[in-house]
Amino acid sequence: CERQDGKPFRQRLLVVANRLPVSAVRRGEDSWSLEISAGGLVTALLGVKEFEARWIGWAGVNVPDEIGQKALTKALAEKRCIPVFLDEEIVHQYYNGYCNNILWPLFHYLGLPQEDRLATTRSFQSQFAAYKKANQMFADVVNMHYEEGDVVWCHDYHLMYLPECLKKHNTNMKVGWFLHTPFPSSEIHRTLPSRSELLRSVLAADLVGFHTYDYARHFVSACTRILGFEGTPEGVEDQGRLTRVAAFPIGIDSERFIRALELPQVQEHIKDLKERFSGRKVMLGVDRLDMIKGIPQKILAFEKFLEENPYWRDKVVLLQIAVPTRTDVPEYQKLTSQVHEIVGRINGRFGSLTAVPIHHLDRSLDFQALCALYAVTDVALVTSLRDGMNLVSYEFVACQDAKKGVLILSEFAGAAQSLGAGAILVNPWNITEVAASISQALNMSAEERKKRHQHNFHHVTSHTAQEWAETFVSELNDTVVEAKLRISK
Ligand code: ADP
Ligand code: G6P
Repeated sequence: CERQDGKPFRQRLLVVANRLPVSAVRRGEDSWSLEISAGGLVTALLGVKEFEARWIGWAGVNVPDEIGQKALTKALAEKRCIPVFLDEEIVHQYYNGYCNNILWPLFHYLGLPQEDRLATTRSFQSQFAAYKKANQMFADVVNMHYEEGDVVWCHDYHLMYLPECLKKHNTNMKVGWFLHTPFPSSEIHRTLPSRSELLRSVLAADLVGFHTYDYARHFVSACTRILGFEGTPEGVEDQGRLTRVAAFPIGIDSERFIRALELPQVQEHIKDLKERFSGRKVMLGVDRLDMIKGIPQKILAFEKFLEENPYWRDKVVLLQIAVPTRTDVPEYQKLTSQVHEIVGRINGRFGSLTAVPIHHLDRSLDFQALCALYAVTDVALVTSLRDGMNLVSYEFVACQDAKKGVLILSEFAGAAQSLGAGAILVNPWNITEVAASISQALNMSAEERKKRHQHNFHHVTSHTAQEWAETFVSELNDTVVEAKLRISK
């Protein structure tokens, strides 16, 4: 098997993630169209090109009939994707319920949804049962496609039960698990009713990876405090069996963004945007419409900035592009109305007949439009309340080599550890501080912008998605070899 550039692939990889890189839209009884899925996990993994990878996951759609399933399986096979078919009830309990209403907010320190706390507690057992069932369904598909020697790389909080399911079936399978969100302090993890079972099943993997050293440390201390296992410099040990735990900070395919800026269509987009916003500084937010992204806080900070800086009112515009996500979860529905309400109020307050200070779009932009927008931006605002890494900040930096705009970045995003020296770091909960940082960014000298940008650009272009995957997979290969040696001694 060969790569596009004719060289041989490094290794066969089965990537297992809840979300496939493409989501399916039904066009007829047996016809489907496929659209790129949004999210950091997909963006990063699409940047991994040197493995012979097959991707196993859910296509984001319920397909109850056999004709539809066969046709979708065939369409996905062309993209090297293998579907796991989840019915509506499983999606409701596993994806909307346990994954996105319980684990996601908990791992981002937001706790359980306030109003639904009791209801969530009551439905917990059935949602956890559905979670385990769904994980077993993913395992069944992996087992069907696994060939000896494959590396099986499981991703994210949806699949914490998967390593155990896989190892039960085949102890020789090389299994890695990587978390794309923060792993919270063990004090937070302790509140989860299924805390021990989840930790134990993750520990069935050979290698467990996180974006930052802090997340890895939290995980190890959860294992020592909750399970009583031993934490060692290599990972977690129980009765002589070691699970290696380490930090593998993710990156993007920076070259793809840099090259895109040269395309005539992107140049055309850039020209249009410059004309449209001429005479105004452009501030940009690009997020999934998720409560962890701190979108209401960001907009309120922008309002405070306008309030305190009348000079800037007709000289700056905030473009907030927020792609809707997980729209069946009530917390996300509430967030959408909340954001619309705040934007409407601020535009009413500071807008004129010809211009508004905030352009808010509830939609996804295609890749070229996104690159053009990054390139014309003066200040990017990433104000996540918590974020595993945040790749939007990386993408912005990759597209800014000509302009050298400023990145305002939440100290609670994993990216603060890599881009902190070049960005202005803020506490997103402190609206006064964020407003002051907007002022600082808009008034920053060209020399300082250049220095900060160079630091970040160097990081983004030298820590790529491909390297991230290579490091993880080679560490996994080594870990398995070392474990075999230990056993044979
Ligand atoms: P998360 O994984 O939580 O969504 P990241 O910032 O790591 O956060 O990754 C988000 C990915 O989704 C990025 O690649 C970004 O370009 C893409 N994305 C987010 N919002 C939009 C949008 N409105 N339009 C297009 N792409 C988007
Ligand atoms: C985050 C998660 C991913 C998820 C993505 C989009 O990046 O870490 O696992 O795929 O958000 O969310 P969705 O629920 O649409 O898959």
